[in-house]
Amino acid sequence: METSEIRRRFLQYFEDRGHTVVPSAPLPSPDPNLLFNVAGMAQFVPYFVGQQTPPYPRATSVQKCVRTLDIDEVGKTTRHGTFFQMNGNFSFGDYFKEKAIEYAWELVTKPQNEGGYGFDESVLYASVYYEDDEAIDLWKRVAGLPDDRIVRLGMKDNFWSMGIPGPCGPCSEILIDRGPEFGADRDWEAGDRYLEFWNLVFMQNIRGEGGGKEGYPILGELPKKNIDTGLGLERVAYLLQGVDNMYEIDEIYPVIEKASELTGRKYGSEHDDDVRFRVVADHVRSALMLIGDGVTPGNEQGGYVLRRLLRRAIRSMRLLGYEDPSLVELLPVSLEQMKKSYPELVTDFGRISQVAYAEEEAFRRTLTAGTTIFDVAVRDTKASGAHQLEGAKAFQLHDTYGFPIDLTVEMAAEQGLNVDTEGFKSLMKEQRERAKADARAKKAGHADTSGYRELREKGVTEFTGYQELATDSQVRGLLRDGAVAPFAEQGETVEVVLEKTPFYAESGGQIADEGLIVGDGLKLNVLDVQRPVKGLIVHRVEILEGVLRPGTDVHAEVDHDWRISACQAHSGTHVVHAALRQVLGPNALQSGSYNKPGYLRLDFAWSSALDPATRSEIEEVANLAVRKDLPVSAQYMTLPEARDWGALALFGETYDEQVRVVEIGGPWSRELCGGTHVKHSSQVGALTVTGESSVGAGVRRIEAFVGMEALHYLGKERALVRLLSENLKTRPEELPAKVADLAERLRAAEKELERVRAAQVLQAAAELANSPKDVFGVQYVGHRAPDGVNGGDLRKLALDVRGRMGNDKPVVVAMLSVNDGKPGVVVALNDTAREWRLKAGDLVRIAAEKLGGRGGGKDDVAQGGGTDPAGADDALSAVEHAIGHQVTG
Ligand code: SER
Repeated sequence: METSEIRRRFLQYFEDRGHTVVPSAPLPSPDPNLLFNVAGMAQFVPYFVGQQTPPYPRATSVQKCVRTLDIDEVGKTTRHGTFFQMNGNFSFGDYFKEKAIEYAWELVTKPQNEGGYGFDESVLYASVYYEDDEAIDLWKRVAGLPDDRIVRLGMKDNFWSMGIPGPCGPCSEILIDRGPEFGADRDWEAGDRYLEFWNLVFMQNIRGEGGGKEGYPILGELPKKNIDTGLGLERVAYLLQGVDNMYEIDEIYPVIEKASELTGRKYGSEHDDDVRFRVVADHVRSALMLIGDGVTPGNEQGGYVLRRLLRRAIRSMRLLGYEDPSLVELLPVSLEQMKKSYPELVTDFGRISQVAYAEEEAFRRTLTAGTTIFDVAVRDTKASGAHQLEGAKAFQLHDTYGFPIDLTVEMAAEQGLNVDTEGFKSLMKEQRERAKADARAKKAGHADTSGYRELREKGVTEFTGYQELATDSQVRGLLRDGAVAPFAEQGETVEVVLEKTPFYAESGGQIADEGLIVGDGLKLNVLDVQRPVKGLIVHRVEILEGVLRPGTDVHAEVDHDWRISACQAHSGTHVVHAALRQVLGPNALQSGSYNKPGYLRLDFAWSSALDPATRSEIEEVANLAVRKDLPVSAQYMTLPEARDWGALALFGETYDEQVRVVEIGGPWSRELCGGTHVKHSSQVGALTVTGESSVGAGVRRIEAFVGMEALHYLGKERALVRLLSENLKTRPEELPAKVADLAERLRAAEKELERVRAAQVLQAAAELANSPKDVFGVQYVGHRAPDGVNGGDLRKLALDVRGRMGNDKPVVVAMLSVNDGKPGVVVALNDTAREWRLKAGDLVRIAAEKLGGRGGGKDDVAQGGGTDPAGADDALSAVEHAIGHQVTG
């Protein structure tokens, strides 16, 4: 049975039993503690915990999930995949244990020709939480399972939570016995023989902070008893398709076949190669799905995971012997399989492939650049006599050049070195923790949202700011450091929630409004406005006067100039987006934006820099749209209606049932947007593009000023040109020629200077060659050249002096100079000196030690340096001593 059919049957089965089919939430998780959705229940958490009233009592979904904890394990064992799908049925206080077991059992065992999965009952087992007698009874009664096919397991296996504080509960799983070739009788731990494929969670508790699967406290009961089940779609697929593991199912295996065709190697013949094939197939599919949901490769968070997946796939293809760009071959194969369940991938494939191919190209360049750095690191490591590449080096290669650690390890092994992977790991951990802490701090003022939830329970806070800038309202409550507080006084900075507010909370790229909240003797300056939990608007305020208390009547007023400029910037962002797509084509889709009064920036999918002509054209199209004075309006509709209308949505956003569509000039610009806008496009005012740059593979950023800021910007440029033309005494239109001329003359002057300096240095050579010191028969020239002679010139001088002194007697020339505060030294020997067993490398090392540094090189010429110029004289006499020592010793 095809995977898409297993999926279809599941949704159908539960829809027929009164469940609302809910689309998968996008892969990126809205929870700051998680990068990606890892379970079907994630989007329903507010219903489980009673924070929101569910719009339906039962739901079913097939959730896209990405788990990356085990990324290094992918392919090594056959159980780890990064992207997977979880079929689930959910009850929010509706049915509970009995029905959940009945439904699952029926679907699993019903014959295939009657719409079920047709599993053979005699090999199925159930596991239950060890003290859940009720579940045991139900498995016996509802499913007719005998005692010896029900097993009691502990918290680790049969108590489920998301790994973070939140809803949780005991669970019960359906397992299938795959036969003795997969493991020992009744060995539940190993997991291969008794494979669990459907997890029924009896979601009834709430948990607190704590590590692992067992080390957290159960804080209490949820308001209602709920059901959350998860059927691993890929697992069922490989069981029903009669293949060994998830990599061999219909949705994945064709990529392995293609990779095998490209590389000429066979899957199934050699373990290491098999691992690589599986990595390729798994990661290509995950990347397809992640980019589809709006993730772009980057160096942080989700973007970093995606980058890693793509690079591991590409690298694995190289290890399989395929050096050409490989994604262009593999991604379309993955698309072909995945489009059956996700048809939107086809319409999006232009954008998706652009992002992926650009990343591959970037990685290929990286490999070239990083390899040079890697070679230097290997040389240094070997020179210092070590056998291990430092963790910090591996981290640098990883962080700056995108080298996956396994790449560094493998390349080092080829050089006979190992890598301090522990050191590397601890640096990675530090980085990850920094990133997580940043994300948490960014998304919500506090990681603990219980204070917000308490205020949210009193109802939604109404936003009046689309219609008016000033609203009479009442203080609902306030929070100090995230906790609800009874009052706050002048001078404090706290968070305040009003019953209704005209203040726009930062979202959709638009920053928060500024303004004042005033009441009887009370004056609050609004510093920031956020929506930390859905439906709750929170103002961070500084109390300028008075005492802030819940229940106080207030007048909240947004700064008018601020808001007008904010509207200009937000509408300007839509105008620039539409102009981009008009000029570059529909693939130039926005992936993120930011706007504040007077300024906007927009990131969009595009892989090459825009030339000046294209930039001007975009600017022109945008300004023409402003001049046309197009009407701007907002309307509410359902998401499918908005899609039919051609409204653009941001990938990776979760939208409500009713969405707001902002249009400018009808179909010219239609976007899903909650922001504030001008009424007519002419109110955007002037719009000037100030920059265009790359922010990652396949993503460009365009920046612009609007309204008065645009005018100020142009004014500043005009002043700059005036200043330049005054200083250079040239008319503005002649400035480019003048500057080019100056640059050319400067280059010529620098060249001449170089020539003169070299000549001067060499002039000294004749004199030095004529006055060597005799050190036990060795002709020694030890000379400190004037400061500022660079390494190259110093070497030239040493070689010139040596050349002049012939080969009759042994000659040692040591030259030293301090350049930019750093001493450098060169030692050159003639052949006779070498016959006397003197070595330039040894002598330079002795000199460099006195300079607080290192050096080395060949026997005839060697170079070194240090950090301590004070050791210069000592360095030269140390060389002299060493000569004496060698000759007499
Ligand atoms: N939340 C449970 C799991 O992920 C069941 O859906 O296994």
